[in-house]
Amino acid sequence: MSHHLQPGSYQSYKGLPALAGLSTIDEAAASQWSVEESVKRLKRLHYVLKRLHETFTERITSEPIYELKMALSHHAYLCAEQVTLIRSRVSEMREPPLGLDKVPHPGLERLMDEVRASRTTANLLLSVYELLLPAILSACDRLRTQAHPLADAPTVRVARLIHFELSDVQQYGQQAIACLVTQEDRVSAEQWLCALEKCMKAAGQLDATEPAEGEVPAPLESSQPYVYQGQPQRDERFQDPFNAGVNPEAFLYDESFPARAKTLMMYYKRIREIDVPEMMASILHDLRDAEPWEFHAEMSRQLWDEARHAMMGEVGFVSQGLDWRNIPINFTWSRNLNTQLDARERHGVLFFIEQGLMPRSGKRYEWEVGLASGDALSGLFQDFDWADEVLHAQIGRRWYVPRYKSLQEALAYGDRCWTKVVSHWRDYLDRGLTQHQNWWPELYRHACQNWGVTPDAAVLAYNKTYEDSRADLQKLT
Ligand SMILES: [Fe+2]
Ligand SMILES: [Fe+2]
Repeated sequence: MSHHLQPGSYQSYKGLPALAGLSTIDEAAASQWSVEESVKRLKRLHYVLKRLHETFTERITSEPIYELKMALSHHAYLCAEQVTLIRSRVSEMREPPLGLDKVPHPGLERLMDEVRASRTTANLLLSVYELLLPAILSACDRLRTQAHPLADAPTVRVARLIHFELSDVQQYGQQAIACLVTQEDRVSAEQWLCALEKCMKAAGQLDATEPAEGEVPAPLESSQPYVYQGQPQRDERFQDPFNAGVNPEAFLYDESFPARAKTLMMYYKRIREIDVPEMMASILHDLRDAEPWEFHAEMSRQLWDEARHAMMGEVGFVSQGLDWRNIPINFTWSRNLNTQLDARERHGVLFFIEQGLMPRSGKRYEWEVGLASGDALSGLFQDFDWADEVLHAQIGRRWYVPRYKSLQEALAYGDRCWTKVVSHWRDYLDRGLTQHQNWWPELYRHACQNWGVTPDAAVLAYNKTYEDSRADLQKLT
């Protein structure tokens, strides 16, 4: 019996796909790949995605356009997921110390500093979605096809997954650019974008697969130190943002009011959650180096959930044929927290409020009201909102509570911080920032019209404001 194999004659059993379907035998017999090369490319991707995650997060608060605020929240979360994926793969490749905090190339650092410093929304969109994301996707594609399909199969999988998720991100960006970026925007960004290309060339492309070419250009937008903008901005559809003339919680917990009307208050409470990403972004920014990656990853997930809750409110109103643009969506919570408290205090407030949502009167109650209302969408949204809040309470117990002696102490700290910021109700009125106009009767009347029912007199007469409500009733996200 001969052990000799004629070239090209090797067959798998009955022609089954060889190698678990990873590749052909010939492809797997190629030998130009190494752990070193794999780790080098992953680390470069890791650096760029981590910086991009930071930039997306930082822009949430100051980006006025609501749709973009939500997209930034989503894209930040998706970047965080890819960063986590890469970190875990790198840690499998006999790398400790992992060196994941090292800047892989000064060209990439300059590139990401410039993107972070984007002067306008148009510059941000162009640099991120027309320059950076195509480069990331190409690097993933090269990694997917060049990594050894058998020996480095886990990396191939990571590259495929990143490419898959970030393709949607790039597509969204292209659509956003088509909607928002003018020809003038392009002209004025041209030189700057050229400099960004040079950064990439100097680094030998994002993944060092090309020879490094030219010098790293001098800083342009990033020549000034970056300053995070903690004042939440909203677009022109958001009217009267200081208005606290309607207290939805007091209505919701009043047993005499019907469930159907309460769904409107719940949709309001949901859409008002735009302010949670606006506030959480500041925590992530301020604690960037003070907390490990896992903190940022979990908090990014929570931030994204809160953005989704806001969008559930938007969908709820539209599904009821109601124009939310006529309702004042208050922003004083994120505004006051971002400008009056430090990051640990803000986290305390967030945890205190979210912990308060867990008892029977909180999220379960909202879900029950949704179910009882006959508005199936309200029931569905509250069902998932409740599930998300349980997760958020767990995230708080993991990352906030252990800093204090006990759960009680952690809660008391959050309570104290929360009490510090509230009760500017009268002040806003006196300064003419709002009239605290009662927007409820008009909204309710419109809804009744759409439902084809006569408004209930007691519901119509609801007129409770936030003026003298207790601090912990002022906001239940
Ligand atoms: Fe929420
Ligand atoms: Fe939450």
